[in-house]
Amino acid sequence: MAKQVEPLPPEVLPKHIGIIMDGNGRWAKLRGLPRFAGHKIGAKTFKTITRYCNQKGIRYLTVYAFSTENWKRPKQEVDAIMDLLIEYLDDAENFKADNVRTRFIGDLPPLGEEINAKIRHVEDMSKDFTGLTLNIAFNYGGRDELVRGMRRLAKQWQEGSLSPD
Ligand code: FPP
Repeated sequence: MAKQVEPLPPEVLPKHIGIIMDGNGRWAKLRGLPRFAGHKIGAKTFKTITRYCNQKGIRYLTVYAFSTENWKRPKQEVDAIMDLLIEYLDDAENFKADNVRTRFIGDLPPLGEEINAKIRHVEDMSKDFTGLTLNIAFNYGGRDELVRGMRRLAKQWQEGSLSPD
């Protein structure tokens, strides 16, 4: 019989977990499936993990889903990933009871107005939810974040509102 594992006490749980959604393609390849099948299962697993973290009382989960580099993939694959994102956003109404506050980070305008409107809707709908805070990074990139951060600082300096502190 499998050994029963004692649940961890809340005080030893991490406050914030970060996950890079990687390995979808390899998962599919190992099973002789198209890469898309890996992304589909990846999106499903992401939902399972979100629900699990929420139930366990984890405060923050940040998932890195789609990087600035990922645009270089074949159009068919990029389109399939965007379809999974749309499916997720359209489904969000059904998960209100989970009480998960969902936010998106990254450079979002290039995702287009249709997706951005859906993102705004989900963020707005869940903004006062008190469970897990879920950050979904889409079109994220270290270089991109540095450039945008520096531009913001330069603008504040130009306006005279930047304090060295
Ligand atoms: C990396 O796996 C994964 C991606 C580039 C896309 C992940 C995004 C989704 C599944 C869309 C849905 C997301 C949400 C949050 C609803 P990979 O193809 O690089 O795998 P590999 O390293 O095995 O090649």
